[in-house]
Amino acid sequence: MPAWPAPERGSPRLLVRDLAQIVTHAGTAAPLRGRQLREVEVVEDAYVLCADGAIEAVGRMRDLEPLEGDVEELDGAGRCALPGLVDCHTHPAWGGDRVAEFALRAGGASYEELHAAGGGIVSTVAATRALTAGELQTRVERHAAWMLAQGTTAWEGKSGYGLDRDTELASLRAVRVAGGSPTWLGAHAVPPERADADAYLEFALHEVLPDAAQLADAADVFLERGAFDASQARRYLTACRAAGLALRLHGDQFTESGAIPLAVELGVRSVDHLEATGDAGVRALAASDVVGVLLPASALFLDRPMPPARALVDAGAAVALATDFNPGSSFTTSLPLIASLACTQLHLAPEEALAAMTVNAAHVLGRAHELGRLLPGRRADLVLLDAPDWRYLAYHLAGDVVATVIRDGSVAFRR
Ligand code: NIG
Ligand code: FE
Repeated sequence: MPAWPAPERGSPRLLVRDLAQIVTHAGTAAPLRGRQLREVEVVEDAYVLCADGAIEAVGRMRDLEPLEGDVEELDGAGRCALPGLVDCHTHPAWGGDRVAEFALRAGGASYEELHAAGGGIVSTVAATRALTAGELQTRVERHAAWMLAQGTTAWEGKSGYGLDRDTELASLRAVRVAGGSPTWLGAHAVPPERADADAYLEFALHEVLPDAAQLADAADVFLERGAFDASQARRYLTACRAAGLALRLHGDQFTESGAIPLAVELGVRSVDHLEATGDAGVRALAASDVVGVLLPASALFLDRPMPPARALVDAGAAVALATDFNPGSSFTTSLPLIASLACTQLHLAPEEALAAMTVNAAHVLGRAHELGRLLPGRRADLVLLDAPDWRYLAYHLAGDVVATVIRDGSVAFRR
């Protein structure tokens, strides 16, 4: 018997060989802006070597030296490898669905009318509260599996469909357990049992925040007519920051109600949506360190105007792209679909779209040092596309382009 347990052997290295292309953004800076968004490095006829969950080397097949020791091989088969996609804005913790509301909207009812009539977010709150913590966990796991199958290897998940203490905390736990980064969206809507937004915030900040701050990485608020106004959002975010949370903001979705000035004043990580943002907002955001998170599937799903993405990028703003996955305004977990919308509706180049859902999305999560690029030392998260050119990510509209997903150096999904 050895005196000491044998040292833990690392898992065998993984060599992904014979890839048609590897693409990743140049440099190590984050967030990327302006011309940097288009600066990609493409290596043809390439390999990626992963070890212990990290990337050990990336290069051309012809430069690959014989490898010593235990190496598992994965035939890249002429596919393209990109960094694992990062979805920096999702709402995965909910019960029920909104399919009946979807049908009403198809018949002409507006999202805001349905919201005002007690449908919308508040109807999902009732369905979410009706779940046990175990059932909620199962739902979030289901949504995480959908994301993975579409190339998402890191994601943020918001609470916000509980709006009571137990369901909000259960939502945050479920996101963490499912592998996401939890954001406390404690100020998503005013639940029916509270008199008004101020009364609800009083409750949320005193009864929920102390525990939410232990479970979440960030806090978020829906600053909008009919939800929370700028002074309520300031109060909420200021308290959340004092509790140690990073700050996010849903703003300018339907109306410009002061979200960008508040975002800049507080120095939040991101302001998300921006469908209603005008020229002054574009300029203010571009002059700041706040990332604008664009959610084109939400604009599409609600038949709303698209956010001014081209103007933001041209003005020098740092932008990210995300799904906004939720049951009411964006029922999709597909970042490849978002890439297609970015190129066709937001007039971004494929390189800009890729930066926005890798490097810049990782930055929004405070993780650009480990995620978003295929570089030695970074987490070995990569997506293999069943395509001869990486731009099929956006080009193949609603195509099953994601063939294989590698997370932490091992195969996590295979189509
Ligand atoms: O980001 N805008 C607020 N919240 C979600 C929608 C939530 C819902 O409709 O259930 C969003 O679009
Ligand atoms: Fe959202």
